[in-house]
Amino acid sequence: MITLALAKGRIFDEALPLLARAGIRPADGEDSRKLILATNRESLRLILVRAADVPTYVQYGAADLGVAGRDLLAEHGGQGLYQPLDLGIAACRMVVAVREEFDYAGAVKRGARLRVATKYIRTAREHFAAKGMHVDLIRLYGSMELAPLTGLADAIVDLVDTGNTLRANRLRAVEEILPVTSRLIVNPASLKLKRETIAPLIEAFREAARGG
Ligand code: ATP
Ligand code: PRP
Repeated sequence: MITLALAKGRIFDEALPLLARAGIRPADGEDSRKLILATNRESLRLILVRAADVPTYVQYGAADLGVAGRDLLAEHGGQGLYQPLDLGIAACRMVVAVREEFDYAGAVKRGARLRVATKYIRTAREHFAAKGMHVDLIRLYGSMELAPLTGLADAIVDLVDTGNTLRANRLRAVEEILPVTSRLIVNPASLKLKRETIAPLIEAFREAARGG
Protein backbone atom coordinates (compact mmCIF):
# COMPACT_ATOMS: atom_id res chain seq x y z
CA MET A 1 0.00 0.00 0.00
CA ILE A 2 1.23 3.49 -0.92
CA THR A 3 -0.02 6.50 1.07
CA LEU A 4 -0.15 10.02 -0.39
CA ALA A 5 -0.72 12.93 2.02
CA LEU A 6 -2.71 15.93 0.84
CA ALA A 7 -4.18 18.98 2.59
CA LYS A 8 -7.87 19.75 2.33
CA GLY A 9 -8.91 22.87 0.46
CA ARG A 10 -6.69 24.56 -2.10
CA ILE A 11 -4.06 21.80 -2.33
CA PHE A 12 -6.65 19.04 -2.66
CA ASP A 13 -8.63 21.04 -5.24
CA GLU A 14 -5.57 21.88 -7.33
CA ALA A 15 -4.04 18.40 -6.98
CA LEU A 16 -7.22 16.63 -8.17
CA PRO A 17 -6.74 17.44 -11.90
CA LEU A 18 -3.09 16.35 -11.61
CA LEU A 19 -4.15 13.12 -9.96
CA ALA A 20 -6.75 12.60 -12.69
CA ARG A 21 -4.11 13.11 -15.39
CA ALA A 22 -1.97 10.54 -13.59
CA GLY A 23 -4.95 8.16 -13.72
CA ILE A 24 -5.84 8.45 -10.02
CA ARG A 25 -9.37 9.08 -8.76
CA PRO A 26 -10.30 9.24 -5.08
CA ALA A 27 -13.31 7.12 -4.09
CA ASP A 28 -14.77 9.97 -1.97
CA GLY A 29 -14.60 13.76 -2.09
CA GLU A 30 -12.80 15.76 0.59
CA ASP A 31 -16.17 16.65 2.12
CA SER A 32 -16.91 13.08 3.11
CA ARG A 33 -15.24 13.80 6.49
CA LYS A 34 -13.16 10.68 5.94
CA LEU A 35 -9.48 11.24 6.59
CA ILE A 36 -8.38 8.20 4.58
CA LEU A 37 -9.65 8.01 1.02
CA ALA A 38 -9.37 4.92 -1.14
CA THR A 39 -8.62 5.47 -4.82
CA ASN A 40 -9.35 3.60 -8.04
CA ARG A 41 -5.87 2.06 -7.59
CA GLU A 42 -6.10 -0.68 -5.02
CA SER A 43 -2.56 -0.06 -3.80
CA LEU A 44 -2.87 3.73 -3.38
CA ARG A 45 -4.71 5.66 -0.67
CA LEU A 46 -4.89 9.34 0.17
CA ILE A 47 -4.77 10.81 3.66
CA LEU A 48 -6.06 14.32 4.40
CA VAL A 49 -3.97 16.27 6.90
CA ARG A 50 -3.40 19.93 7.79
CA ALA A 51 -1.18 21.60 5.18
CA ALA A 52 1.59 22.24 7.71
CA ASP A 53 1.54 18.57 8.79
CA VAL A 54 2.18 17.08 5.32
CA PRO A 55 6.03 17.28 5.58
CA THR A 56 5.91 15.65 9.02
CA TYR A 57 3.80 12.69 7.85
CA VAL A 58 6.19 12.10 4.95
CA GLN A 59 9.35 12.64 7.02
CA TYR A 60 8.33 9.90 9.47
CA GLY A 61 7.08 7.58 6.74
CA ALA A 62 3.43 7.62 7.89
CA ALA A 63 2.84 8.77 4.32
CA ASP A 64 5.13 7.67 1.48
CA LEU A 65 4.49 10.80 -0.56
CA GLY A 66 2.85 14.16 -0.08
CA VAL A 67 2.07 17.48 -1.70
CA ALA A 68 3.34 20.51 0.21
CA GLY A 69 3.78 24.22 -0.44
CA ARG A 70 7.32 25.54 -0.64
CA ASP A 71 6.38 27.93 2.19
CA LEU A 72 5.69 25.04 4.54
CA LEU A 73 8.72 23.06 3.32
CA ALA A 74 10.96 26.05 4.07
CA GLU A 75 9.41 26.29 7.51
CA HIS A 76 9.74 22.54 8.13
CA GLY A 77 13.38 22.56 7.00
CA GLY A 78 13.01 19.70 4.53
CA GLN A 79 15.12 17.23 6.54
CA GLY A 80 14.37 13.62 5.68
CA LEU A 81 12.46 14.58 2.55
CA TYR A 82 13.22 13.86 -1.08
CA GLN A 83 11.72 16.62 -3.28
CA PRO A 84 11.77 15.31 -6.85
CA LEU A 85 9.17 17.53 -8.45
CA ASP A 86 7.66 21.01 -8.52
CA LEU A 87 3.99 20.47 -9.33
CA GLY A 88 3.42 24.14 -10.16
CA ILE A 89 0.09 24.27 -8.28
CA ALA A 90 -1.08 26.70 -5.56
CA ALA A 91 1.28 29.41 -6.82
CA CYS A 92 1.74 32.50 -4.68
CA ARG A 93 4.54 34.54 -3.09
CA MET A 94 5.75 34.92 0.45
CA VAL A 95 6.21 38.62 1.15
CA VAL A 96 6.82 41.22 3.83
CA ALA A 97 3.81 43.57 4.02
CA VAL A 98 3.09 46.74 5.98
CA ARG A 99 0.33 49.34 6.29
CA GLU A 100 0.13 51.49 3.14
CA GLU A 101 1.43 54.56 4.97
CA PHE A 102 4.23 52.82 6.88
CA ASP A 103 7.71 53.94 5.77
CA TYR A 104 9.35 50.52 5.60
CA ALA A 105 12.39 51.63 3.58
CA GLY A 106 13.00 54.43 6.09
CA ALA A 107 12.69 52.05 9.03
CA VAL A 108 15.18 49.65 7.42
CA LYS A 109 17.60 52.51 6.69
CA ARG A 110 17.39 53.78 10.28
CA GLY A 111 18.04 50.26 11.56
CA ALA A 112 14.75 50.37 13.49
CA ARG A 113 13.84 47.24 15.42
CA LEU A 114 10.58 46.04 13.84
CA ARG A 115 7.88 43.79 15.22
CA VAL A 116 6.88 41.22 12.63
CA ALA A 117 3.89 38.90 12.94
CA THR A 118 3.84 35.64 10.99
CA LYS A 119 3.19 31.94 11.02
CA TYR A 120 6.48 31.49 9.14
CA ILE A 121 8.84 32.12 12.06
CA ARG A 122 11.85 30.20 10.74
CA THR A 123 11.70 31.59 7.19
CA ALA A 124 11.14 35.13 8.49
CA ARG A 125 14.03 34.82 10.96
CA GLU A 126 16.37 33.70 8.18
CA HIS A 127 15.17 36.44 5.82
CA PHE A 128 15.70 39.32 8.25
CA ALA A 129 18.97 37.88 9.58
CA ALA A 130 20.30 37.75 6.00
CA LYS A 131 19.37 41.45 5.65
CA GLY A 132 21.10 42.21 8.94
CA MET A 133 17.81 43.49 10.41
CA HIS A 134 16.81 43.12 14.04
CA VAL A 135 13.20 42.03 14.37
CA ASP A 136 10.95 40.73 17.12
CA LEU A 137 8.90 37.90 15.68
CA ILE A 138 5.36 37.28 16.90
CA ARG A 139 3.86 33.87 16.13
CA LEU A 140 0.33 33.95 14.72
CA TYR A 141 -1.77 31.11 13.34
CA GLY A 142 -3.92 33.01 10.81
CA SER A 143 -5.38 36.35 9.66
CA MET A 144 -1.90 37.88 9.77
CA GLU A 145 -3.23 40.95 7.92
CA LEU A 146 -4.91 42.08 11.11
CA ALA A 147 -1.65 42.47 13.03
CA PRO A 148 -0.44 45.79 11.50
CA LEU A 149 -4.00 47.20 11.61
CA THR A 150 -4.34 46.64 15.33
CA GLY A 151 -0.83 47.70 16.35
CA LEU A 152 0.23 44.16 17.19
CA ALA A 153 3.07 44.40 14.66
CA ASP A 154 4.75 46.80 12.22
CA ALA A 155 4.93 44.21 9.47
CA ILE A 156 3.79 40.72 8.54
CA VAL A 157 5.28 37.87 6.58
CA ASP A 158 2.44 36.19 4.68
CA LEU A 159 1.40 34.75 1.33
CA VAL A 160 0.05 36.88 -1.51
CA ASP A 161 -1.56 35.74 -4.72
CA THR A 162 -3.90 38.28 -6.33
CA GLY A 163 -3.09 40.95 -3.73
CA ASN A 164 -6.81 41.31 -2.97
CA THR A 165 -6.43 40.53 0.73
CA LEU A 166 -3.64 43.08 1.17
CA ARG A 167 -5.58 45.76 -0.76
CA ALA A 168 -8.79 45.12 1.15
CA ASN A 169 -6.88 45.76 4.36
CA ARG A 170 -4.87 48.74 3.11
CA LEU A 171 -1.58 46.89 3.27
CA ARG A 172 1.18 46.69 0.64
CA ALA A 173 3.95 44.21 -0.07
CA VAL A 174 7.40 45.71 0.36
CA GLU A 175 9.68 42.70 -0.12
CA GLU A 176 9.43 39.28 -1.70
CA ILE A 177 10.92 36.44 0.32
CA LEU A 178 10.06 33.35 -1.71
CA PRO A 179 8.10 32.40 -4.82
CA VAL A 180 5.82 29.54 -3.73
CA THR A 181 4.38 26.53 -5.54
CA SER A 182 3.61 23.06 -4.24
CA ARG A 183 6.02 20.18 -4.54
CA LEU A 184 5.79 16.44 -4.52
CA ILE A 185 7.72 15.17 -1.51
CA VAL A 186 8.78 11.59 -0.93
CA ASN A 187 10.06 9.60 2.04
CA PRO A 188 13.53 8.35 0.96
CA ALA A 189 13.17 4.98 2.74
CA SER A 190 9.79 4.42 1.06
CA LEU A 191 11.35 5.16 -2.30
CA LYS A 192 14.05 2.57 -1.65
CA LEU A 193 11.70 -0.11 -0.36
CA LYS A 194 8.80 0.48 -2.76
CA ARG A 195 10.68 1.81 -5.76
CA GLU A 196 8.74 -0.37 -8.21
CA THR A 197 5.51 1.42 -7.32
CA ILE A 198 6.74 4.86 -6.29
CA ALA A 199 9.17 5.61 -9.14
CA PRO A 200 6.45 5.18 -11.84
CA LEU A 201 4.10 7.26 -9.69
CA ILE A 202 6.63 10.12 -9.59
CA GLU A 203 6.99 9.86 -13.37
CA ALA A 204 3.19 9.93 -13.78
CA PHE A 205 3.08 13.11 -11.68
CA ARG A 206 5.92 14.60 -13.71
CA GLU A 207 3.95 14.01 -16.91
CA ALA A 208 0.74 15.31 -15.32
CA ALA A 209 2.49 18.47 -14.07
CA ARG A 210 3.76 19.09 -17.61
CA GLY A 211 0.11 19.23 -18.57
CA GLY A 212 0.28 16.01 -20.53
P1 ATP B 1 -4.98 25.53 7.35
O1 ATP B 1 -6.28 25.85 6.64
O2 ATP B 1 -4.84 24.11 7.72
O3 ATP B 1 -4.58 26.51 8.40
P2 ATP B 1 -3.58 26.80 5.29
O4 ATP B 1 -4.42 28.01 5.49
O5 ATP B 1 -2.09 26.96 5.25
O6 ATP B 1 -3.85 25.64 6.29
P3 ATP B 1 -4.32 26.68 2.58
O7 ATP B 1 -4.83 28.06 2.68
O8 ATP B 1 -5.12 25.64 1.87
O9 ATP B 1 -4.04 26.05 3.99
O10 ATP B 1 -2.90 26.76 1.95
C1 ATP B 1 -2.19 25.62 1.59
C2 ATP B 1 -1.02 26.01 0.74
O11 ATP B 1 -1.50 26.65 -0.44
C3 ATP B 1 -0.07 27.01 1.39
O12 ATP B 1 0.89 26.35 2.17
C4 ATP B 1 0.53 27.68 0.17
O13 ATP B 1 1.60 26.92 -0.35
C5 ATP B 1 -0.62 27.71 -0.81
N1 ATP B 1 -1.41 28.97 -0.76
C6 ATP B 1 -1.89 29.59 0.32
N2 ATP B 1 -2.58 30.71 0.01
C7 ATP B 1 -2.55 30.78 -1.32
C8 ATP B 1 -3.10 31.70 -2.27
N3 ATP B 1 -3.80 32.77 -1.90
N4 ATP B 1 -2.92 31.45 -3.57
C9 ATP B 1 -2.24 30.37 -3.97
N5 ATP B 1 -1.67 29.47 -3.13
C10 ATP B 1 -1.83 29.67 -1.82
C1 PRP C 1 -4.07 33.15 1.83
C2 PRP C 1 -3.03 34.06 2.47
C3 PRP C 1 -3.59 35.44 2.24
C4 PRP C 1 -4.40 35.26 0.96
C5 PRP C 1 -3.69 35.91 -0.16
O1 PRP C 1 -5.14 32.99 2.67
O2 PRP C 1 -2.85 33.76 3.83
O3 PRP C 1 -4.42 35.85 3.29
O4 PRP C 1 -4.50 33.87 0.68
O5 PRP C 1 -4.35 35.70 -1.38
P1 PRP C 1 -4.73 36.96 -2.31
O6 PRP C 1 -3.48 37.75 -2.49
O7 PRP C 1 -5.19 36.33 -3.58
O8 PRP C 1 -5.80 37.73 -1.61
P2 PRP C 1 -6.28 31.93 2.31
O9 PRP C 1 -6.96 32.26 1.03
O10 PRP C 1 -5.68 30.56 2.43
O11 PRP C 1 -7.24 32.22 3.46
P3 PRP C 1 -7.59 31.25 4.58
O12 PRP C 1 -6.27 30.74 5.12
O13 PRP C 1 -8.33 32.13 5.52
O14 PRP C 1 -8.39 30.19 3.88
